[in-house]
Amino acid sequence: LPEDILGARLNSAGVDLSDPLVLAPLQAQLKELEQLSWHAEPTFPADDAGEIAPITMPHDLSVEVGTRRDSTAEEVDAAFARAVEIQPGWDALGGDKRALLLEEAADLFEAHTPEFLSLCQREAGKTLLDGVAELREAVDFLRYYAGEARRQFETPIQLPGPTGEDNVLSLHGRGVFATISPWNFPLAIFIGMASAALAAGNAVIAKPAEQTPLIAALAVKLCHEAGIPPEALQLLPGAGDVGQMITSDPRLAGVAFTGSTETAQAINRTLASRDGPIATLIAETGGQNAMIVDSSALPEQVVRDVLASSFQSAGQRCSALRVLYLQDDIADDMITMIRGGFDALTIGDPADLSTDVGPVIDRDAQAALERHIARRESSGVTVWKRELGEFAAKGCFVAPAIMEIGSILDLKRENFGPILHIVRFKGKDLPRVIQDINATGYGLTLGLHSRIEATHRFVQAHARVGNMYINRNQIGAIVESQPFGGEGLSGTGPKAGGPHYLARFATERVTCTDT
Ligand code: SER
Repeated sequence: LPEDILGARLNSAGVDLSDPLVLAPLQAQLKELEQLSWHAEPTFPADDAGEIAPITMPHDLSVEVGTRRDSTAEEVDAAFARAVEIQPGWDALGGDKRALLLEEAADLFEAHTPEFLSLCQREAGKTLLDGVAELREAVDFLRYYAGEARRQFETPIQLPGPTGEDNVLSLHGRGVFATISPWNFPLAIFIGMASAALAAGNAVIAKPAEQTPLIAALAVKLCHEAGIPPEALQLLPGAGDVGQMITSDPRLAGVAFTGSTETAQAINRTLASRDGPIATLIAETGGQNAMIVDSSALPEQVVRDVLASSFQSAGQRCSALRVLYLQDDIADDMITMIRGGFDALTIGDPADLSTDVGPVIDRDAQAALERHIARRESSGVTVWKRELGEFAAKGCFVAPAIMEIGSILDLKRENFGPILHIVRFKGKDLPRVIQDINATGYGLTLGLHSRIEATHRFVQAHARVGNMYINRNQIGAIVESQPFGGEGLSGTGPKAGGPHYLARFATERVTCTDT
């Protein structure tokens, strides 16, 4: 290997599912793990237990995977007291020691691959392929933020001292940080936000999504086994009321949130109206992601990338494609080809290796997506839908759908599932298309298929989006290579897995010493 690659941090190798010698024992382990029942509860449970909720499989609601015990007000209060006490010591430990603990956690995560893959599938309804990608991303976040803690937090930055004085700038944890994470990446985003806050020297109170607390509980347990003090990383499972208790606590210095735009706005209001330090909000929220395909695009490549961007993970990615803009002179042919691929998608049980599209997360999500399809159908729009088999009645399945609409602005909200909208445009109207995409107010991902470099430059210059993908799909950002996050209604900007992320969790101090 060349000198600059030797010793460099490499992203997690993951699991090679194409190797039968790897796949067969893994599948046997996954089968065995089906016998386990999991439980999530506060890291320091008190006597007066909160409500217990069953966690069931999204694809078969009759199967219980485990239980979630909600955090009580007393437990939230006590968690803050412990976090406040330990935080200065955790910060004083320095970037290098914190990095070693995060790296140990990454190794433990990889050592528990079967458990994580089992929970991805059974708790979140993910296919094995999506589960492997999720675990890799989680491990990558841990190792990347460990490296960044060393680089940015271990040694203060020496600044110029024009009159002979010594000036240094150092980064420190802000205090107690809450992380409020979503169900669609129940491991990667959960641990990504928590490990960033920890790496920067904060104590963390972590509330996972109410639908997926079990995988978060395993992640936290392994972090503690790695040596991260339990007071520095506390799990507080629960629903929105627990989130509300956490975000209104005056001891909070910041919140990292990933989820809907509406919830981010509500957290912002709560933070603004409470006493205590002026808390920072790091939010990664929704999107109304488009892809633009012009007549110079390679059709087979477009089909592959449209299907992956819209239907992989059942469309439940913040990055997923919602609105495909097709230049009118190729639109009919492209739609025929896309429908050919669409009709070949396998919908079903995520445990089945041939499944392309699994369930959505719960009945509420299913109902909202079905309402959207029904409303369009009743207004006369032709909707191409896949038939669902009998299996679908057991769980939360939505028939993947494609429909044509007039403009991205016809959609009032994000439809977080396997639904693709198509809009036709004339080549001369490209500026108008970009204007409309910008006018949604969202700015997360944008796909572009075009072989014309001037078009690349034009779109890059005018589209207000956080992540733009040219001549490829628009999902699956890789830690460090494609830092991820949007602007406007899509979030506050700092990019997960990027070089500026940790600084947003930190406060800066300058020390000037006269000689
Ligand atoms: N980070 C994910 C992706 O890039 C989206 O949440 O697909």
